[in-house]
Amino acid sequence: MVTNMLILGIESSCDETGVALVQSDGAAVPSLLSHALYSQIEMHQAYGGVVPELASRDHIRRVLPLTQQVLAAAGRRLDAVDVVAYTRGPGLAGALLVGAGVACALGAALGKPVLGVHHLEGHLLSPFLSADPPEFPFVALLVSGGHTQLMLVEGVGRYEILGESIDDAAGEAFDKSAKLMGLGYPGGPALSRLAQQGDALAFKLPRPLLHSGNLDFSFAGLKTAVLTQVKKLAAVRAEPVEAWPLQLLADLAASTEAAIVEVLLKKSMAALRDTGLRRLVVAGGVGANRVLREQLNAACAKQGVRVHYPELDLCTDNGAMIAMAAAMRLQAGVQQASETYAFDVKPRWPLDAISLPVPA
Ligand code: KG4
Ligand code: ZN
Repeated sequence: MVTNMLILGIESSCDETGVALVQSDGAAVPSLLSHALYSQIEMHQAYGGVVPELASRDHIRRVLPLTQQVLAAAGRRLDAVDVVAYTRGPGLAGALLVGAGVACALGAALGKPVLGVHHLEGHLLSPFLSADPPEFPFVALLVSGGHTQLMLVEGVGRYEILGESIDDAAGEAFDKSAKLMGLGYPGGPALSRLAQQGDALAFKLPRPLLHSGNLDFSFAGLKTAVLTQVKKLAAVRAEPVEAWPLQLLADLAASTEAAIVEVLLKKSMAALRDTGLRRLVVAGGVGANRVLREQLNAACAKQGVRVHYPELDLCTDNGAMIAMAAAMRLQAGVQQASETYAFDVKPRWPLDAISLPVPA
């Protein structure tokens, strides 16, 4: 059923409270009216990582003020909302419960239906929020803090996993390596910034599973190799890692980034070759990485492949991708919004659990 709908989206799966309004207009690509985000990064920094209980408590503080903010920015009233969407999983259970609880309470109070969204489907469809939205089918490289997957995407809800990480995700490799280099949390952006001044050939680091002949990834060994390098360097230095010469750390950061990017690049190109598709979508926090974008752009240009990314500020967690995924699922008729306000959340929830069969 194709109708016009105003969708409120709420994301609270981890350390970012995101709220957004998306307008679905007939069969056209739904459009983003407004979005607002509160990042808890500063609060968690003191602990070197996300503290789940603190995350939940902070989502509670932020979610309704952010909702008022996006309504005001779009010039809409709460009662104009047709569907309330929320992240149902995967993520931190307590954090997810805040978004789900608030969404269902709003839906019940307004007499409007609600819809639980898969967080990774949100990332996957986030490039549809950009000025240059992709067309189906495409290969997707989904690189978030917890997931690294290559997918064949035939349409909304039609996802086939072509390969995935058998241990750490690419985002985790960035974060754990950054921590070893004394760069704090979340390490990916900091490591990437530092790497700009470094020599990517300075340290020889492994490219795990690069020649495995399949599309799976493994990043745990790379993190161990970075740890070994750090230990070797520490053995001949008196000062703590935070006080090491900037150039040394920049070289290690650049070498680490190059190893992660090379694996992501080569496997993505192999997935395009295997499927014969000429369209690649990159989504998730690591998709913001500058070197990854540069190298993918160059390789894809050579092969005549179009690459699509979400806008930079919509690469990491946000409410817009949740409202968008809900809008596209409703538009495609793969899910109905529900007026049963008894909700649950799914902290562990593989994306293929929501995939419809890919037509032969
Ligand atoms: O998608 P996301 O916001 O959260 C999850 O759903 O996990 O991804 C967060 C991840 C973190 O590991 C973070 O370090 C990484 O994305 N990240 C980056 C960059 N920006 C965010 N990694 C490398 N380079 C970046 N510029
Ligand atoms: Zn995410």
